[in-house]
Amino acid sequence: MKRKEERFSADLLQYLNESPTAYHAVENAVALLREQGFQELKETENWSLQKSGKYFVVKNGSALIAFTVGKGNPAKEGFRIIGAHTDSPCLKIKPGACSVTPDGYVKVNVEIYGGAILNTWFDRPLAMAGRLIVKEDGALREKLIQIDKPVFLIPNLCIHFHRDVNEKSAYNKQTDLLPLLCRKEEGVEKEEYLFQLIQEETGIEKADIADYELFLYEYQKGIFTGKNQEFISASRIDDLSMVYAGLSALMQAKTGAACQMLAAFDNEEVGSTTAQGANSGLLRELLNRICKNLGLTDEGYFQAIASSTSVSADLAHAVHPNYSDKHDAETRPVLGGGPVIKYSASQRYATTAISAAYFMEACERASVPCQKFVNRNDIVGGSTIGPALSGLTTIPTVDMGAPILAMHSIREFGAVEDMVYTERAFRAYYEG
Ligand code: CO
Repeated sequence: MKRKEERFSADLLQYLNESPTAYHAVENAVALLREQGFQELKETENWSLQKSGKYFVVKNGSALIAFTVGKGNPAKEGFRIIGAHTDSPCLKIKPGACSVTPDGYVKVNVEIYGGAILNTWFDRPLAMAGRLIVKEDGALREKLIQIDKPVFLIPNLCIHFHRDVNEKSAYNKQTDLLPLLCRKEEGVEKEEYLFQLIQEETGIEKADIADYELFLYEYQKGIFTGKNQEFISASRIDDLSMVYAGLSALMQAKTGAACQMLAAFDNEEVGSTTAQGANSGLLRELLNRICKNLGLTDEGYFQAIASSTSVSADLAHAVHPNYSDKHDAETRPVLGGGPVIKYSASQRYATTAISAAYFMEACERASVPCQKFVNRNDIVGGSTIGPALSGLTTIPTVDMGAPILAMHSIREFGAVEDMVYTERAFRAYYEG
């Protein structure tokens, strides 16, 4: 790999490791955007956008829309949009955070966020991050916290009490996944255990915390692996690798005639229907606002939408070395083979022949190989933000992503080269 590509891979891994939640993913992306001269636009303030200007909008601290205004007439040139998502399956701490068992164990009360592979969460030291809403000088303020220490763990049941564990594993989602925090301590009650931990690590007292959104994540960091270090094993590859590839492409792409945009939504893993999710008015209204601010009439706005395209970037399924029959016989994307265009006759992916063709054309210009994916007819498969994004904006959309294995495991697995290829294809898409 060339130096530039090695740098990109190292930066991507760092971004994954330093972004344990959607809030941190947005905060870290914002820091990079600011370094590159992007200016924040507040939804509550007046905007005055300039040609070739670089801007971003944050929604709920967990969604981010960044864009470069094109040099051309937006009604004629439209938008080049890359969409992705900032959230990943995980364990979220419930209100009523802790319980003490009669045997004197203190457990944390969690619910499951998204479609996690639950068995991957056992026997791994877990850390905690998220946001607090803090009362400060009579106002409510948002504070991101990260306790990057191995403080929680969900122990497996030993095989001696569970002889068929390797044949059958079923988990009770209410009772089997509660992480152990500590042994009972004198004079400490229920959720005070959690608040004590927060105070020790951040100095913020329970009395000042109005509410919280806290998530557990794997303490061990992501790494490169494989004989030639060609693979990446890390948490949250889905979908922060695509967020980062889009971000890097947006920051490096030459300003073109069209507006270039990265839209990183929250809540894809739980259906996207939230204010900060893809299945909302967020993007459509922002596109309208940008067009109006650039002086377009309603008529011009409709033309801009009709001149736009979008790429919904979420990861794809590589053929698994041990389960190769899970894929369609003829359509078999592999690790290292380049980004994958995802097709579905029932439109669980938004791809059409037209949207696929413009993405393939971008890959060609970037000298990037491109693969295809379609489910076996007897497997329903997943979905992503593409259908909502294209349905709400009416912009033709291609669903694509780098191929990975172990999707929704606490650690996912991909090929470094596919991430490099994807970023290059994104740059070509923006500049095309
Ligand atoms: Co995803």
